[in-house]
Amino acid sequence: MRAVVHDSYGPPDVLRLEEVERPVPKDDEVLVKVRAAAVTRTDCGYRAAHPFIMRFFTGLRRPKRRILGSEFAGEVEAVGAAVSDFAVGDHVFGTSGFRLGAHAELACVRERVRIAHLPAGMSFEAAAAVCEGALYALTTLRRADLREGQRILVYGASGAIGTAAVQLAKYFGADVTAVCSTRNVEMVQSLGPDAVIDYTQEDFTKNGETYHVIHDAVGKHSFRRCRRSLKPGGAYVANDLGFLWQVPLLALLTSRIGDKKVLLPLGRPPTTKKDVLFLKDLIEAGKYRAVVDRCYPLEHVVEATRYVETGQKTGNVVLTVSGGPR
Ligand SMILES: NC(=O)c1ccc[n+]([C@@H]2O[C@H](COP(=O)([O-])OP(=O)(O)OC[C@H]3O[C@@H](n4cnc5c(N)ncnc54)[C@H](OP(=O)(O)O)[C@@H]3O)[C@@H](O)[C@H]2O)c1
Repeated sequence: MRAVVHDSYGPPDVLRLEEVERPVPKDDEVLVKVRAAAVTRTDCGYRAAHPFIMRFFTGLRRPKRRILGSEFAGEVEAVGAAVSDFAVGDHVFGTSGFRLGAHAELACVRERVRIAHLPAGMSFEAAAAVCEGALYALTTLRRADLREGQRILVYGASGAIGTAAVQLAKYFGADVTAVCSTRNVEMVQSLGPDAVIDYTQEDFTKNGETYHVIHDAVGKHSFRRCRRSLKPGGAYVANDLGFLWQVPLLALLTSRIGDKKVLLPLGRPPTTKKDVLFLKDLIEAGKYRAVVDRCYPLEHVVEATRYVETGQKTGNVVLTVSGGPR
């Protein structure tokens, strides 16, 4: 089968399409014929080994896993002997997590992890874009303990995590203010927040409004600049560790001093299959949609990755896989 592989860390050009051995599902695994897979900031982090600490998990000198990609949608091609929830031909979506392997024509995924049947009426392209943003956003909102009626501001509301956070926070009954640039105002408005602020026109830190939670979904703001916009007892949570690990250090400091906290977007327990099923239900109820910016054929993975790395994508970027595995 064809897969996008990389044998060294580096820029997007280290990725290349190659004929590799067809994976064989273990007893508890589903073999998925991938029809679409997202190219995420996580993939970029793995590929570039950025931040450096990543190498302790992905391989010190070279990547242990040659094939990137974790968010996928496709068709079940074969199932292991112990698989009971899925059958050949089922349409599925989900994430293979740290096992990666989705930027390929075929990928093996364990039945008990984050995989579910495709939401009714959803395309493979849209389904492949569900998990990355939504699972990060879910973890973040839980970490911040966002409650019904509380006020949250989502900064970077147009990214993969931001578009998900706006919709999920609204679903959880919060009063949501979304912040993005002019070009994304209309799209972000369509996600249903209570207010949208165009940061090129207005600085939310200067308008006197305060929030229980400020979620910096693109890591472009800072606790220092946001602090006065937090209510007493409020929390700032960012999806980026910041320069020199500023966010973890501030999290440690504010856990002991002051009544406004910096939180790390790490969840315990981590997201599970139950969360993917929850997202599937939300999508089918019309309460959640994945935002897809661009689709590229698998062959154009380098171009797709370069676009993701501009930091300007709106929602998600998806690779489409056509033809059949050999
Ligand atoms: N290393 C990892 O494994 C990993 C994994 C997942 C996420 N993350 C981090 O999580 C963050 C979010 O990821 P993502 O995929 O959701 O982001 P993304 O989709 O790449 O975010 C892109 C959006 O950010 C907005 N943006 C760019 N500059 C901005 C600025 N100065 N102020 C406000 N918004 C700005 C842009 O929209 P506007 O034009 O509207 O501003 C764009 O739509 C990133 O910082 C990423 O590094 C890291």
